[in-house]
Amino acid sequence: MTNRIAAPLLDWYDRHHRSLPWRVSPPDRAHGVVNDPYRVWLSEIMLQQTTVPAVMAYFESFVRQWPTVAALAAAPTEEVMKAWAGLGYYSRARNLKACAEAIVRDHGGRFPDSEAGLRALPGIGPYTAAAIAAIAFDRPAAVVDGNIERVFTRLFEIATPLPAAKPDIRRHVADATPVTRPGDFAQGLMDLGTAICTPRRPACVLCPLATGCAARKSGRQEEFPVKAPK
Ligand code: ADE
Repeated sequence: MTNRIAAPLLDWYDRHHRSLPWRVSPPDRAHGVVNDPYRVWLSEIMLQQTTVPAVMAYFESFVRQWPTVAALAAAPTEEVMKAWAGLGYYSRARNLKACAEAIVRDHGGRFPDSEAGLRALPGIGPYTAAAIAAIAFDRPAAVVDGNIERVFTRLFEIATPLPAAKPDIRRHVADATPVTRPGDFAQGLMDLGTAICTPRRPACVLCPLATGCAARKSGRQEEFPVKAPK
């Protein structure tokens, strides 16, 4: 099953990935260039409640001012809060600073490379730990965000409403996650969910996973994910 999803998805990602400043492009990755954990972490914290277009300028400004986690750890808190101004959810900025300090103080300035190690840090929950482990460290962690939930509930017509469906979705994502390129796989699903497998009128004719998609087969794409009645 893994390969029925991962192979076509990775092939699509190689051709259609978004170029984003925290991503090393697939051709460069094929030549052994790796994603920088600091940039991956910073982008994931910024993207927690904010869209990609809104994050871009803030991300560039942060890495220009503080190119490493050690530089961010040494920065005055007021400067960091000022650079964050406009992004909202300011507890993220406070945790960002606390996390940078913990990495320098407790980890010699290097990010832990496991989900468990990452989760022990301020501001890093299960989603963010999985995303950093997969994208920065090539760990086959099951990364599940809102986009990925939509893709998988459609692929398998998961009829249980959210949030009760989450364990089932996670199992399917874990099954499908490849041991090689798990980070590209996760980011490919995010890009697919943004560009193709959209909430309304998904562009199934362009989807690399269309032939194996249960909801596409029954024409019920827009019925998934099922939401619990309010
Ligand atoms: N949203 C959260 N993480 C992302 C990533 N790495 N790429 C694109 N969108 C994202």
